[in-house]
Amino acid sequence: MCGIVGYIGNREAYPIILKGLQRLEYRGYDSAGVALYDGKSIQLCKTKGKVGDLKKKCETSIDTTGSLGIGHTRWATHGVPNDVNSHPHFSNSGDLVIIHNGIIENYESIKKELLNRGYHFKSDTDTEVLVNLIEEIKINEDVKLGKAVQIALNQTVGAYAIAVFDKKKPNEIVVARLGSPLAIGVGEDEFFIASDASPFIEYTTNAIYLEDGEMAVVRRGKDVKIFNIKNDKWVNPYIQTLQLNLEQIEKGGYDHFMLKEIYEQPQAIRDTFRGRLREMEGLIKMAGVDDNIYRFLNARRIVIVACGTSWHAGLVAEYIFEDYLRIPVEVEYASEFRYRNPVIFKDDIVIAISQSGETADTMAAMKLAKEQGAFVFGVCNVVGSSISRLADAGAYTHAGPEIGVASTKAFTTQITVLTLIALKLAKEKGKISTSEFHRLLQELQQVPTKVEKMLESNKHVKQVAEVYKFATNCLYLGRGYNFPVALEGALKLKEISYIHAEGYPAAEMKHGPIALIDEQMPVIVIATRKGHYEKVVSNIQEIKSRKGKIIGIVTEGDETVKKLADHVIEVPETTDSLSPLLTTIPLQLLSYHIAVMLGKNVDQPRNLAKSVTVE
Ligand code: G6P
Repeated sequence: MCGIVGYIGNREAYPIILKGLQRLEYRGYDSAGVALYDGKSIQLCKTKGKVGDLKKKCETSIDTTGSLGIGHTRWATHGVPNDVNSHPHFSNSGDLVIIHNGIIENYESIKKELLNRGYHFKSDTDTEVLVNLIEEIKINEDVKLGKAVQIALNQTVGAYAIAVFDKKKPNEIVVARLGSPLAIGVGEDEFFIASDASPFIEYTTNAIYLEDGEMAVVRRGKDVKIFNIKNDKWVNPYIQTLQLNLEQIEKGGYDHFMLKEIYEQPQAIRDTFRGRLREMEGLIKMAGVDDNIYRFLNARRIVIVACGTSWHAGLVAEYIFEDYLRIPVEVEYASEFRYRNPVIFKDDIVIAISQSGETADTMAAMKLAKEQGAFVFGVCNVVGSSISRLADAGAYTHAGPEIGVASTKAFTTQITVLTLIALKLAKEKGKISTSEFHRLLQELQQVPTKVEKMLESNKHVKQVAEVYKFATNCLYLGRGYNFPVALEGALKLKEISYIHAEGYPAAEMKHGPIALIDEQMPVIVIATRKGHYEKVVSNIQEIKSRKGKIIGIVTEGDETVKKLADHVIEVPETTDSLSPLLTTIPLQLLSYHIAVMLGKNVDQPRNLAKSVTVE
């Protein structure tokens, strides 16, 4: 989704903003722009396309000097991606300049009123309406920019993170957030503004994260004043010291972030265990669960809300929780849950899973569950994110920054955290024996080494990718624990190679997808020995009879599937419930290699966004 960067200080703003926009590219966007102010005139440059295109355009068309600036990557909502709809947007007088992430839902009625008052609009965006509303208020009510922004925001419905400045006030930028993230980097006599800390991490590790409903006036060489948008009350700025470092957000020798992140999985899973999995003591420690153990042990059911890959992790968790904990679990698309009047009990545990911790639908689903008295637990990767703060309690995945739009290490670490929770509760509830608990802990501890081994198959997976790179359709099949892995494998392929792919429970194939199978159709079948193996082998026979091409994901040493399949990729033996942590790896690699071979933009696939902050 849209990315915001701003700078006010004593350095040149342009290089900081441009590099910052590059860092935010991972969020997904279709156009970019920048406005620079040297105290005399405002330079505006924007274009459809990538930050690289913006750079070329800026350097040939504007004077890039100025120590105040705002920049934006736009993911189109209102109006097609083109130069005019790109941000920043000017107000009619040319004094105010704005960038915006989010949607102003009532923009049409505001626009109508402004048109009646003689305002004109160049773009189709809701953002241009907002900046003119601010201007109208500023002029009519004769108030400062901050006040005008506050009044305007109180008249809007929707979600936003905005940064706006006024030509008449060369020393301040006003920012605000509701539903979209916004961080302020605090340097010495300088401030940075960004959708996340990555654009300013090399300049400062001090950051203020605005809370929903807050706005701030950021003043050059002075301070940051934070207010509540509704009641105008001052808020004390809380400056956090960030743990993030530059290395974590760079490619580190890999061609793509996605590949780097696939390879980081053994370490990411180890980091997820750290301090929690205490095999010697025979226990799992998780503060968010321990502190609320009564609620967990007495829960009527678990409802999981999430989107995309996180939803797939939720499906794996459903199998794990029901298997070990024996309580009912429902896994819901957050976007459906929030609007379908769901039945929520006060003794439900609602688990919200989100890599970014900013997904608008997941947040709305959590709010609904909270309003109805449920206990909401967050499983997030981004520390300090909105979802992690909204939750009653939670557990971080500790996967480190995930930049590739196609989620990889977030998925495996989400499953890891959810497995830890399930095993911990199953043990506390006496649903599994101590010896089984110990066996599972040992198995779990071996997972990172087995993932490492899995990664050694990269070359082989690449050869398989070579064979199927021109496929136009792909089917992914799995059963039990590996059904969600089939969904996730298909999603990975779709996302980055734009090949149509579907994930299906293997047996369900007979109720539709089998009609599509012919000699052109690659079918990726997860057929590990512990998961309904014989049944899956029968499904493979059915595909074979219809001449489908079979790529089997099998347990090491498997001979049966090898005889039937066109290719096999072996995974180390593990317990059924942990197998998704291994079987998912070759599917990630397969989609990665196919996308690279097809020349696709692996880290920033078209139309997709890393953090979906609008509904
Ligand atoms: C977007 C991303 C996906 C992600 C989904 C949910 O669609 O491209 O990779 O799975 O959002 O995001 P979340 O941050 O809530 O896990």
